[in-house]
Amino acid sequence: EKGGYTSFMLKEIAEQPRAVADTLLGRIDGSGALSLDEVRIPPKALREADKVVIVACGTAFHAGLIAKYAIEHWTRIPCEVELASEFRYRDPILDPQTLVIAISQSGETMDTLMALRHAREQGARVLAICNTNGSTVPRESDAVLYTHAGPEVAVASTKAFLTQLVACYLVALYLAQVRGTKYADEIRAVVRDLSSIARSVERVLETMEPVRELARALAHKKTVLFLGRHVGYPVALEGALKLKELAYMHAEGFAAGELKHGPIALIEDDLPVVVVVPSPRGRSVLHDKILSNIQEIRARGARTIVIAEEGDDEVVPYADHLIHVPATPTLLQPLVTTVPLQVFACELATARGNEVDQPRNLAKSVTVE
Ligand code: F6R
Repeated sequence: EKGGYTSFMLKEIAEQPRAVADTLLGRIDGSGALSLDEVRIPPKALREADKVVIVACGTAFHAGLIAKYAIEHWTRIPCEVELASEFRYRDPILDPQTLVIAISQSGETMDTLMALRHAREQGARVLAICNTNGSTVPRESDAVLYTHAGPEVAVASTKAFLTQLVACYLVALYLAQVRGTKYADEIRAVVRDLSSIARSVERVLETMEPVRELARALAHKKTVLFLGRHVGYPVALEGALKLKELAYMHAEGFAAGELKHGPIALIEDDLPVVVVVPSPRGRSVLHDKILSNIQEIRARGARTIVIAEEGDDEVVPYADHLIHVPATPTLLQPLVTTVPLQVFACELATARGNEVDQPRNLAKSVTVE
């Protein structure tokens, strides 16, 4: 049942190109426009929405953080992302013009369920993004967009995360289409980029041997830090979460710009720091900023593990280890930059003798608050 892999996690990492492609299937019409009729929220309600609130936990929360960048950029609707476990305890402002998006792989996470129940009681509309047909979260929501990752068995979420991102991009583009905040040809261009991502993920997977080698070499370390900016920041958080849960290691993700406000004090000789570098094309300011962040930590002795786009020559002098990913538009980059971090955590945990499918103290779905 593991299809020749030694763990479900490795199998599920390998299934990601297929999972991404399947989640797009049937959701784009012949003209390249979004056709999300399955989202049964009337277009009028989507046009009238004045705020999007995303609630989720763990890895699904990281998908939500990334979705915020896409939703606000493409639709200009303000979007908040909140941990489901915090949401209802702070008396959030919700009304019928609020579109709540609840993201959950299992559809049974109690914190997420309680958050969406609270939102519906306040009159908000809830759209679920979920991987499990007929589970509680979609049943209790107004509408659902299923991710087609297929069953995820390993406790650590991998392919579900990538498909949650795809579903979020689809919802964001659909909102832009319905509200007319983007021209049809702009939407088509993004859809084309999305459609070619499965191939890029496949290419990343073909080049992971150096990442596995590096993970084994770092298996004795106590701490690994992760840095990113813009959508690379949630990717850094996700990389750190994977390492915590699988390798039982101290790992933290930071927004690279926050370094100087405290975390840079952690940098010491030979401390591994993974840096997720944004594309040098497009938002090049971000690229310049992160280059100087890498220089700062390297000057203080950090061992830099740099994830950067192919052809990004500027990072080369600052990378002790360089991991290339295919060129991808900035907003979609998490679909490719997350993959090496999953492989890194899985291999490092295995080198430490941990059981990757069943990390200690964790359950696949958390049905208690
Ligand atoms: C991390 C992980 C968890 C889940 C979280 C939410 O690898 O798997 O952080 O993402 O418990 O679970 P779902 O998506 O089922 O609501």
